[in-house]
Amino acid sequence: MKKPQLPYILTRSSNNRHGTLTEKPWLVPLIIAATFTVVLLTTTKFLFNKRSLTNHFLCSLSSAYVTPEITEYTTTPTQLLAILHYATSRTVPQQSYDEIRLSFDVLQSIAPCNFLVFGLGHDSLMWASLNPGGTTLFLEEDPKWLHKIIQRVPTLRAHLVKYPTKLSEANKLLSTYKKEEDCMPPNARLEGNKQCKLALSTLPEEVYKKEWDVIMIDAPKGYFAEAPGRMGAIYTAAVMSRGRTRAGVTHVFLHDVDRKVEKAFANEFLCKKYLVKGAGRLWHFAIPPAPAASRFVENNSSFC
Ligand SMILES: C[S@@+](CC[C@H](N)C(=O)[O-])C[C@H]1O[C@@H](n2cnc3c(N)ncnc32)[C@H](O)[C@@H]1O
Repeated sequence: MKKPQLPYILTRSSNNRHGTLTEKPWLVPLIIAATFTVVLLTTTKFLFNKRSLTNHFLCSLSSAYVTPEITEYTTTPTQLLAILHYATSRTVPQQSYDEIRLSFDVLQSIAPCNFLVFGLGHDSLMWASLNPGGTTLFLEEDPKWLHKIIQRVPTLRAHLVKYPTKLSEANKLLSTYKKEEDCMPPNARLEGNKQCKLALSTLPEEVYKKEWDVIMIDAPKGYFAEAPGRMGAIYTAAVMSRGRTRAGVTHVFLHDVDRKVEKAFANEFLCKKYLVKGAGRLWHFAIPPAPAASRFVENNSSFC
């Protein structure tokens, strides 16, 4: 009977000029090493696949599974509510993707932070959830609208505020505010400043007490003569930014800069030199605190 042929490496065929294991003993550790590597790779792949399968299985049972790479993030209840809301609502925020992306990027880099938003809207839950662990506070002029939004999302923090201006007064306010010394540095201030019509002087105490890292101005309404217009909100954001005592800048986002009033008041108070970027109808300013000297020196002739 013909002897069964052994694998090549253990035999020496007549034309094998390379020899056997006995002739080449250094092949043994090489074979062991190769075998070990193959077994290791196969096992790892198997385990890896198995873990993926396990994850998949766990995910289907519970939302609690967190992949190891993202364990440092904890999802907040507001974020979960936001997913549910925006996944099931046909009403989306009015700002475009590119516009939202500007403040999204800033919030990603500095959250948790103090985020003040002028206006409640379909975007409010999104803003609150983009600042996890921070303070996001909304200022709304319309009591009915405030009630409606808060009923829908009771976790949002919002205050009803009154604006002392009308859009129809915008030109006059811009051309005369410098005559009122309480509107100008070093007297420019907010709380209780009744002399300066641009200063929002009756906001809730907590608005003045906090230093705001990000301010979004997308309200009040500014598209008809009797509407309050955004003059006071823009002036107030400028005074807040100049008065910052903490490190860093104040990020101010202003929407609807295609409108004359928004553009003119932004140039006057938020300053072109602090404009970082724009997208669509949104401008982003990064405003440093006013140099300590200019806060106290008399006769500052401009905010910029
Ligand atoms: C220009 S909207 C801002 C909209 C917001 N960016 C959004 O995505 O929904 C500003 C103001 O308009 C008013 N407003 C907005 N949507 C409203 C609605 N559906 N009904 C009544 N008032 C509304 C609120 O007073 C709000 O503060």
